Amino acid sequence: MTATEMSAELWNSAARVLEDNWAGDHMVPSRKLYPHQWSWDAAFIAIGLGYVNPSRAWRDLRSLFEAQWPDGRVPHIVFDPATAEGDYFPGPAVWNVPAYGRRPARGSTGIVQPPMHAIAAWEVYRHASGHGAACALQAHTELEWLYPRLVAQQEYLLGRRDAGGAGLAAIVHPWEAGLDNSPSWDPPLANVPADRSLLETYRRRDLAVADAAQRPTDTDYARYIGLVLNYRDGNYSDHDLAQRHGFVVECPSFNSILGAAELSLAQIAGVLGLGDQARRHRDRAQRITMAIASRLWDPQTRTFHARDVRTGRLSPAQCVSGLMPLMLPDLPPDQTEAIMAEARSARFGLPEQTLLPVPSYDRTAPDFDTQRYWRGPIWINMNWLLRRGMLVHGYRDDAEDLRRSMLRLVHGNGHFEYFDPKTGEGLGAPAFGWTAALSLDLLADRSVPAYARS
Ligand code: SER
Repeated sequence: MTATEMSAELWNSAARVLEDNWAGDHMVPSRKLYPHQWSWDAAFIAIGLGYVNPSRAWRDLRSLFEAQWPDGRVPHIVFDPATAEGDYFPGPAVWNVPAYGRRPARGSTGIVQPPMHAIAAWEVYRHASGHGAACALQAHTELEWLYPRLVAQQEYLLGRRDAGGAGLAAIVHPWEAGLDNSPSWDPPLANVPADRSLLETYRRRDLAVADAAQRPTDTDYARYIGLVLNYRDGNYSDHDLAQRHGFVVECPSFNSILGAAELSLAQIAGVLGLGDQARRHRDRAQRITMAIASRLWDPQTRTFHARDVRTGRLSPAQCVSGLMPLMLPDLPPDQTEAIMAEARSARFGLPEQTLLPVPSYDRTAPDFDTQRYWRGPIWINMNWLLRRGMLVHGYRDDAEDLRRSMLRLVHGNGHFEYFDPKTGEGLGAPAFGWTAALSLDLLADRSVPAYARS
């Protein structure tokens, strides 16, 4: 098969996944495992939809932001009222979110996910002109609608969620990072009681539709549910988080996305004619970068780690999240070079025989697990973000190698949720939205982000 035939085949299969996962006014990440709308999935998916159906990209983002809370938080799941309570756990009744604004009660969860949406909105806007004048006009109108909402999202995260007081956002649940069972959370989670009787009260739904060996364990889930119930029972308040809640952590990936979002907001403010705001966003991006560089960097391992706000300790695990500050153009050169060294190392580098993208966890760690969700498998969104960082800092050859390895992996194995880092076999949910969407972007987009260093 020629490269052109391969690209056409992959393009068509990716577009089909997005068509099949469309649910009328939003996209589901996968039909069986994730039958509602997820926050950071919607952003990654919008980036791909921008090429094949920009109106749906905007519709999906609108559906998500219509569920934004009055305090600015964008919920990690917006529940589809047409989906039964039992089709996803923990569902609307467990979260028991009260009504707000024009939203009915139990319409969403009360936690957040990485704020990828400004980045996505800017990407969709950037590609809109390729679809003609009407599409470009629509993109401008949608940016006007989204901009104040995106700003409110950032302000929530940099305000109420700055539990450490150093200008970074803290997460209150591993699900907020989107990296559910990453080894980064092992030390902070060790202090959270694992009450397994909760799993007798509530039944895990994921195990009915996915292989248990590829999902978080029951001990993980007992802790996840305990954290949900504690946050819910405190009315989802962020007051005195470090005293009242068992898991309060600054994640390098979450905060790098937060910083990169400010740069996309600067671009958006620019096209909306809000020059002063653009400057404010750039300043904020710089402050977030400096806080990551000083607070989450470990000079011993020469990489970035999650910080437990309650204890002040950095988590020792070397995870793919530690590579994400590469997205930030003002990262000090020494740290930029260290991330590139880490990405090329035996821990994360492309194994020569298979030429696979980077895994989610250090390949050389004794507990590296090729199957279990975020404890080893390859995820396309993390590799997409890493490639973006490589382009930001001018590592074009590495970015191109990574682009090709991602496309080869997905073409050879299908649009899976994640992949075995030794064999490339597809794992988790098939026909997974962001794998398909980002494949479209990787096929189409070889350009350098507008704010890249030369
Ligand atoms: N990723 C979580 C799940 O597996 C929720 O965000 O259900």
